[in-house]
Amino acid sequence: MNRIIERKITFDEKANGVCETLFHNANGYIGVRNCLEEGAPDTWDTMRGTYINGFYDVIPMKQAEALCGLVEEKETMLNIVDIQTIMLNVDGVPFDMEKGTVLKNTRILDMDAGTTTRVTRLRMTDGKETEITVKRMASFGQLNLFLMEYSVCACNYSGDIEITSCHIADVRNYTNPNDPRLAAESLKNLSVQETLEDKEQSFITCKTQNSGLSVCTAVAHELSQEAESELVKSGEGSYEYVLSKTLEQGEVFTVTKYCIFADSIRNTGVLRTARNDLDTVVNNGKDYYYEAQKRYLETFWNHSEVVICGDDAVHLAMSYNLYQLLQSSGKDGRCNVAAKGLSGEGYEGHYFWDTEMFILPFFTLTNPQVAKALLSYRYDILPAARENAKILGHKKGALFPWRTINGKECSGYFPSGTAQYHINGDIAYAVISYYLTTGDLDFIRKKGFEILLETSRVWMDLGNYCKKGFVLNDVTGPDEYTCMVNNNYYTNCSAKYGLHWTTKIYRILKENGGVEEINARLSVGDDELQTMEKAADAMFLPYDETLGINPQDDSFLEKPIWDLAGTPKEHFPLLLHYHPLTLYRYQVCKQADTILAYFLFEKEQSRDVMQRSYEYYEKITTHDSSLSTCVFSIVASRLGMQKKGIDYLGDSTKLDLENTHENTKDGIHTANMGGCYMAVVNGFAGLRVTQEGLSLHPFLPEKWESYSFRICFHDRLLKILVEKEQVTLVLVDGEQISINVYGQNVLLTKEQKRQ
Ligand code: BGC
Repeated sequence: MNRIIERKITFDEKANGVCETLFHNANGYIGVRNCLEEGAPDTWDTMRGTYINGFYDVIPMKQAEALCGLVEEKETMLNIVDIQTIMLNVDGVPFDMEKGTVLKNTRILDMDAGTTTRVTRLRMTDGKETEITVKRMASFGQLNLFLMEYSVCACNYSGDIEITSCHIADVRNYTNPNDPRLAAESLKNLSVQETLEDKEQSFITCKTQNSGLSVCTAVAHELSQEAESELVKSGEGSYEYVLSKTLEQGEVFTVTKYCIFADSIRNTGVLRTARNDLDTVVNNGKDYYYEAQKRYLETFWNHSEVVICGDDAVHLAMSYNLYQLLQSSGKDGRCNVAAKGLSGEGYEGHYFWDTEMFILPFFTLTNPQVAKALLSYRYDILPAARENAKILGHKKGALFPWRTINGKECSGYFPSGTAQYHINGDIAYAVISYYLTTGDLDFIRKKGFEILLETSRVWMDLGNYCKKGFVLNDVTGPDEYTCMVNNNYYTNCSAKYGLHWTTKIYRILKENGGVEEINARLSVGDDELQTMEKAADAMFLPYDETLGINPQDDSFLEKPIWDLAGTPKEHFPLLLHYHPLTLYRYQVCKQADTILAYFLFEKEQSRDVMQRSYEYYEKITTHDSSLSTCVFSIVASRLGMQKKGIDYLGDSTKLDLENTHENTKDGIHTANMGGCYMAVVNGFAGLRVTQEGLSLHPFLPEKWESYSFRICFHDRLLKILVEKEQVTLVLVDGEQISINVYGQNVLLTKEQKRQ
């Protein structure tokens, strides 16, 4: 099946930023936006960024009123360096798309090779036609390697070319003071500590102002033919590698640029590591890494591809989305997945609940090692989460930050930030799903149970009993247009689930050994767990008798309904046009909230209640958040509304590729990408993983001929193929296993396929 995306690009101001995002190269560690090598014209939209996952500085975030416990500083992902600038002159005339006539301009993303390619052919002002081809790769095998191969063809002339390849550490972060989803202040928080040039290789070490981190970037070049070359120090923190060469008509000249990153989070001597790694990669040569990249991706697709026959556009978009999840996700346990991956500076590189509720499910089912690394990151920030809980007045437990890089709460506006306590339930949910899908009790023993216990302790401290039952007051649910409410349905379901599972897992540990050590380490015992079980049983879940639906919270249905039909089109997303308090006073939702609860905690309600609620919330949801349509798709499919399931999936799959939210220039929407996966696997195929095992309830969308996907379940690799008349299950690898399909248990053995 095709996994190559090709775009012919007519350049305009807007398309440029989107293209930089869509074709960025990343590997979970580094990310480089696909900017024009020669630089974009001043008036064009551009964000010339290169990022390292988890590399940040701390900057002040002054609150106008210094109320107790408010966050006064935040972590922000830094733009590290510019290694992508390469300028070309032909007989003294610059290669400049604004000045010449563009004859061809394409970008290609090859998701099997793991590379992007730009081809631009220009008739320059003096009539000479020059074509550049630029291949880029962020290596999955060697995470700190970024490779560029820049080729020049003198199409219709012989002449002198000069290539200037830059290494610039004098960079700033992007800013947009008019958009709350971006940083308001332009940062230049890296200062040059040390530079070094050796054998025409350049090394620049920079350090952050406040977080105490440093990073060394190193650059080396390799030429396809001999040429005159010189490395020039062009500024305090910048180098230029200048090449001159005479090209005959039709001749192609290629310069390969090896860029290495070494940061002090992962390395002790950053310069030493950079020098060693640069030597290694130059010795191994580019082909070695291209081959390794292909092999890596072969394994990736082998475990995780979703093949859709009968709708090529959705198939390709799905592949694109899964590929972006791979590009975005931290794999070393030291970092996580930013809301925009490593593709841009939207949300400042912060990690949200997006990871656990939208992205992790894909990895848990296809690549549990990555899921484990992402959960281990959460485990490692437990000390900061405990600190956060204390600031919020909790005597015990850990409250995970709503948005963070290194563990500290970074949300400046607590009503739609810190108040989203559901993040505790989301992380607990992800731990439980990981356990149910893998059976990895060792992880639970060492890390998982502690996360469950500490998050549950906060529920116990936050909640109280009243005549309604156990209630959770003054929290914000997922819907950010309704803040600071009592008994948000989603939050209460999530807390209930977490509390129940904390006690269940404790019992499992008791049966399987290791609980004594846990008791001692975490000062826990039967008494505490009994109080949790009791609170879970007594958890209040709002229900409205008159409408027969679950209100989003205690007061939700008392508010007037926002007139969505009468709201001008240009007033969306509402958050950019209305004061938050205006929005809070209406029944209007930014995103799925109660509907998400129906996907995750479906046993709490009857189908009728879910159906009525679905219809109710659908009318008042704007989907201003990209985390919304995918959830509406999943729940529609589960409730048997197949057409809606398909239509909402359609909205989700094209969100970035067609820039439907008009902010793809700031970065991809990773949560939505994970949501697309769930819409097919959990929605169309009805996949559920529970204590009883794996079950499926598939349907085939009308226009599709078939779809298939692969998942890992308890050390098995399974393939599920859904066709018109039949569902075929294949045990690709591992021991026989029983799976429930349409309510029937089927035993899947290696020898036989099950239909
Ligand atoms: C959504 C949040 C999400 C955040 C980052 C916001 O617009 O409302 O649910 O976590 O974006 O993606």
